[in-house]
Amino acid sequence: METVFRPFETMDARRLWEAANEDPDWPVRPRTRSAFFRLVEGLQSACTLGEACLEALEVDGRLAGFCVLQPVPAPHLGTLAEEGTVVEGGTYLASWARGLGLNAQVKGRLLAAAWEQFAAAWCVFLVPCDNRRALAAFARLPWPHLMETAPDNGRFAPLLRRREWEEGRPLAAVAFSRGTLRQTAEYARLKRPSSRSSGPTKW
Ligand SMILES: CC(C)(COP(=O)(O)OP(=O)(O)OC[C@H]1O[C@@H](n2cnc3c(N)ncnc32)[C@H](O)[C@@H]1OP(=O)(O)O)[C@@H](O)C(=O)NCCC(=O)NCCS
Repeated sequence: METVFRPFETMDARRLWEAANEDPDWPVRPRTRSAFFRLVEGLQSACTLGEACLEALEVDGRLAGFCVLQPVPAPHLGTLAEEGTVVEGGTYLASWARGLGLNAQVKGRLLAAAWEQFAAAWCVFLVPCDNRRALAAFARLPWPHLMETAPDNGRFAPLLRRREWEEGRPLAAVAFSRGTLRQTAEYARLKRPSSRSSGPTKW
């Protein structure tokens, strides 16, 4: 299985939208085609400026999904902003690409970018609480992480409350701390993307 990460193109947005707009686990907030394309355009511009990452994932030459990473605005973080930059990640795998072990490759690449490109203190994923598959997939990853919901009133509570209000459903924050990961052998594996990956050379 040949896995390649490459810059996300407008054609990818078209193909994924057609395949995914019936998917209940489609993780992207804009649920209309035009809003989704505007979001992609904004992210592509931010990538060009080095302010976000948006990549397509190909498996054996076939578009398998995408991943995204962008800094969370400090005012959305409450006192967590004092700990440093927080980046938010997202992953989408087409249904045929799930269960193949790709999730760890994608998350490893996002975490490497979080630490190296953004010097982030935290990398967080906001997952709907009823998305049992995504939550189970996080539990299988080899890197330590914390999981919080708004009633926990933890460090991600301000961000969770804001995003729950926007999305109208309960979310869980799954968060990876660079400080904690540094103490594990697994951190070394996150220093560089896999040699089989292609992508922005600044990684
Ligand atoms: C979330 C996602 C990236 C995970 O990748 P994946 O390849 O499906 O993940 P994995 O197969 O490694 O792990 C999924 C686990 O959930 C389990 N699972 C599958 N369906 C499940 C369900 N309905 N309830 C609970 N667990 C479920 C699987 O059995 C597997 O665990 P196991 O291998 O221990 O049995 C992928 O499913 C996806 O893109 N989903 C749509 C988008 C999304 O939900 N994104 C989340 C935002 S980060």
